[in-house]
Amino acid sequence: MGWKTIDDMDLSGKRVLLRVDINVPVEKGRVTDATRIERIVPTVEDILAKGGTPILVAHFGRPKGKVVLDMSLRQVLPVLREKLGHPVAFIETLEAAERHTEEQDTAEVMLLENIRFHPGEEKNDPEFARRLAGLADVYCNDAFSAAHRAHASTEGVAHHLPSCAGRLMQAELEALEAALGQPQRPVVAVVGGAKVSTKLDLLGNLVAKVDHLVIGGGMANTFLAAQGIDVGKSLCEHDLADTARAILDKAQAAGCEIVLPEDVVVAREFKAGAENEVVAADACPEDAMILDAGPRAVAKIDAVLSGAKTLIWNGPLGAFEIPPFDTATNAAAARAAALTQAGQLISVAGGGDTVAALNGAGAAETFTYISTAGGAFLEWMEGKDLPGVAALAQSAAA
Ligand code: 3PG
Repeated sequence: MGWKTIDDMDLSGKRVLLRVDINVPVEKGRVTDATRIERIVPTVEDILAKGGTPILVAHFGRPKGKVVLDMSLRQVLPVLREKLGHPVAFIETLEAAERHTEEQDTAEVMLLENIRFHPGEEKNDPEFARRLAGLADVYCNDAFSAAHRAHASTEGVAHHLPSCAGRLMQAELEALEAALGQPQRPVVAVVGGAKVSTKLDLLGNLVAKVDHLVIGGGMANTFLAAQGIDVGKSLCEHDLADTARAILDKAQAAGCEIVLPEDVVVAREFKAGAENEVVAADACPEDAMILDAGPRAVAKIDAVLSGAKTLIWNGPLGAFEIPPFDTATNAAAARAAALTQAGQLISVAGGGDTVAALNGAGAAETFTYISTAGGAFLEWMEGKDLPGVAALAQSAAA
């Protein structure tokens, strides 16, 4: 795929600058979801097994080039040590890192303090990238979920050191390639979420690549309204009607079937357990709002999934955070999980709320691949080049 992996590198006795994404949710100083930490463990283990010394570089939050104590990576250190099952030295400043890397023992794992405390990081300052590169002999990028950022530690440093993808980056890129690069057809994309405006490029790219595009969530309302359907008080971006129609035209020209809900679940209040009813998609009462896809819509999605070989999923189909309006999302997720388990479907999901929705549906573990990425997954679905990945390819070609 144009970039190197750990298998291609001689790491014996080498210091490896390892960019990871451990930007995990933390509440009151405690990590509430350690998935991103767990997923970098194989990379650290493989570097150690090849005789390399991993120097972990990561960001946490958006401190904008200043030291913000609440955003210290110190708070993830206990979980990192536990998951790695290995001591980790925490290095607060670059000066200390420079001293430490001169003196360090091999087989020691280091974690640098939040790299975004340095103004040069987000600016991708070449001098700062060179300084980071000076800490190591090899660069390994395992932060797919930060690969849409052209920062010093995700992009700049790859121009100064022999570079490779870590195991998580490798797995993410291989899964995405299987889903949209060279997929087994038919391919179905499920795209949900609140707003069309945040996913315009994504929809535009997908209709040219997939065979069926299921649109759900608040976004579906915008498409219904664009076809002259009254959606009552539903979340809807009426100003995007022309854009929605252009996407429908583009899909038709490309031979992509757009699947909008035939029936919907409506309620008069946006709250868990709100009284609700199922109506045809064109029969939303004017004082009600659409909060989920209905049973006929779910049956249609079921049929589309059953005929597909590859699924790529981003975004919930309804207001999944307030039951019972998670019903369509759960049903479609369960169906996709069952088809995956039966070996009939390659299922890849990622981006923002998606993983939470699939976890809620109890389906996440059965999917072929669940990405750890939010924004990077979306940009990749939009067909954009990710600077962090492009830099690895450039380094491999150099
Ligand atoms: C994420 O959480 O999606 C990544 O860590 C990227 O974070 P950012 O959006 O602050 O660059």
